[in-house]
Amino acid sequence: MKKRIGVLLSGRGSNFEALADSVASGRIPDAESAIVISNREGAPGLERAKSRGISTRAIPSKGLERETYDRQVVAVLNEHKVDLVCLAGYMRLLSPFFVSSFPNRILNIHPSLLPSFPGLESQRQALEYGVKFAGCTVHFVDENLDAGPIVLQSVVPVKDDDTEDTLSARILQEEHKIYSEAVRIVLEGRYKIEGRRVMRIT
Ligand code: GRF
Repeated sequence: MKKRIGVLLSGRGSNFEALADSVASGRIPDAESAIVISNREGAPGLERAKSRGISTRAIPSKGLERETYDRQVVAVLNEHKVDLVCLAGYMRLLSPFFVSSFPNRILNIHPSLLPSFPGLESQRQALEYGVKFAGCTVHFVDENLDAGPIVLQSVVPVKDDDTEDTLSARILQEEHKIYSEAVRIVLEGRYKIEGRRVMRIT
C-alpha cells in the first residue's frame, strides 16, 4: 500500500511542490500526496495543490484555542488516512495532542542549521549574526519550536554580498532537495532514533 503524505502549510508552498514532484516522479517511492491543509484560506500553496489535483482544505485557526484547532486538523488527516505529516511553512506550534496523534510521524523543514536560529526570519538572523555558513534542517516535530531530532541538514556558504533574499534563495534550493530525501528515509523506515540522534540504517 502506498504511504499517504499530508502537508500543512500557511504560505506559498514551494516545499510542498518539491515534495509533490518527488512523489510524482518516484524520487519518493510508493507514496502519494493525500491532502494539503492550510490554516490560511488564501495561502497560495492551496492553489498550487489544487492545480495538481490534490485534495485541499482550509481550516481557519483564528480565535480557536490551540488544541481545539489541532483536533480539527488531526480529524481531517485521519479522514484522509495520512501516514506522514509534513509541515511546509506552517506557521503554528503543534499541541501535545497533535504530536501524540502522529508519533515520529511529523516532519518539519526549517531554513537554518538548527539549533542555531530557530523561529522566524532565520536567514536574516544568520546574516546579522555574521555566520559564514548557513543551511537548512529537516527534523521530527515535538511540541517545542524547531526542536525535535534532526533527520538531515544541508550547508550553504554565506557570501559577503548576500542579502536576505539571495541567502534565502540559496537555502531554499537545498530545502527542496533534503526534504524529499528525508521523507524517503522516514517512509522507508531506514533509520533509528537514539536519544536525539537519528541514525541511518542502510
Ligand atoms: C521555508 O523557508 C521553510 O523552511 C520555512 O518556511 C518557508 C516556507 O516556504 N519553514 P514555502 O512555503 O515552502 O515556499
